[in-house]
Amino acid sequence: MYNSKITGLGYYVPENVVTNDDLTQFMETSDEWIQERTGIKERRWIDPKTEDSTSVMGAKAAKIAIERAGLTKDDIDFIIFATLSPELYFPGGGVQIQDLLDMPTIGALDIRNQCSGFIYSLSVADQFIKTGMYKNILVIGSENHSGGLEKSTRGRGVTVIFGDGAGAAVLSRSEEEGKGILSSHLHSEGKHAKELALIGPSTGRWVDAIMEENDPDDTSYYPYMNGQFVFKHAVVRFSEAIVEGLQANGLQKEDIDMLIPHQANLRIAQFIQKKFQLSDDKVFNNIMKYGNTTAASVIIALTEAWEKGKINDGDLVVLAAFGSGFTWGSVVIRW
Ligand code: ACO
Repeated sequence: MYNSKITGLGYYVPENVVTNDDLTQFMETSDEWIQERTGIKERRWIDPKTEDSTSVMGAKAAKIAIERAGLTKDDIDFIIFATLSPELYFPGGGVQIQDLLDMPTIGALDIRNQCSGFIYSLSVADQFIKTGMYKNILVIGSENHSGGLEKSTRGRGVTVIFGDGAGAAVLSRSEEEGKGILSSHLHSEGKHAKELALIGPSTGRWVDAIMEENDPDDTSYYPYMNGQFVFKHAVVRFSEAIVEGLQANGLQKEDIDMLIPHQANLRIAQFIQKKFQLSDDKVFNNIMKYGNTTAASVIIALTEAWEKGKINDGDLVVLAAFGSGFTWGSVVIRW
């Protein structure tokens, strides 16, 4: 049995900043409402005039992660890609990233687990490394939400929270005992699938065109979220996933050096921080700048925390996420 370790991290967000005030141009909302309920000040939305897309952003983040791992694209032997907003309904985005990066004919797997997508992806990669099947796996989360959101007052409960962006990690085989991914914990509860869901396939930049041709009262091409119901489940499941991760490794909450919660809502992250009595330097949030980037959120936050020097050798890092499915989980890492 081998160990697996994150050897490279990268993220990319589009340049186009959309503030809360910008949203008031096309929907009834306010900076005060959004900040008070979610903590979000601004988010990045792809400028349609640029080349950015789900896979292009994913490829940009991946390039940085591969370079920081001290590897080349040819050293990667598998790709795992998480998104809920692929450019194509099929095939998945993993193969598009493979093509964009001009990689050899290695396997590419897409993971469909929304906000928990990166947690699930990392866990799958971990198993492939630990069994010895692969040595260096590229794990990516990327989302282009802005192309598929309802940009009117009717959609405001969902539209204001989502942002675009991508993050990537290289997970590599390691000989270092006791370091790297210690454990991962995955859960789902499909009976709540429709509480946070998208009925019609309407990804990338197609949604406006679809809506023009269809019944304007048909909301099935936009994401639906029962916000308060999701919120209540999120705080419970986040906590359970963190406790499970700690217990599996004989650890206590005091052992956590850095908690990276999925950036769904700052209020959820603050609730968790309080519950686990973690000081401000032990929780990293960036939802204020990027909004909720679903499958990209944990990896963008992990990368940014690492870039800022907040994660150091030997630290205990806990990643946790909850989202549509419902799906949730945690990954415990000794850095
Ligand atoms: N601006 C102004 N008013 C708004 C907005 C807005 N953007 N959105 C909703 N409102 C109004 C509603 O119309 C409602 O008005 P009413 O009382 O007159 O009917 C009022 O504000 C309250 O609306 P709620 O939806 O109940 O607002 P809530 O306090 O629940 O906040 C929010 C909404 C921020 C979405 C919150 O429920 C939340 O964060 N939920 C969890 C999100 C989450 O964790 N998602 C999981 C990950 S996402 C994924 O997996 C894809």
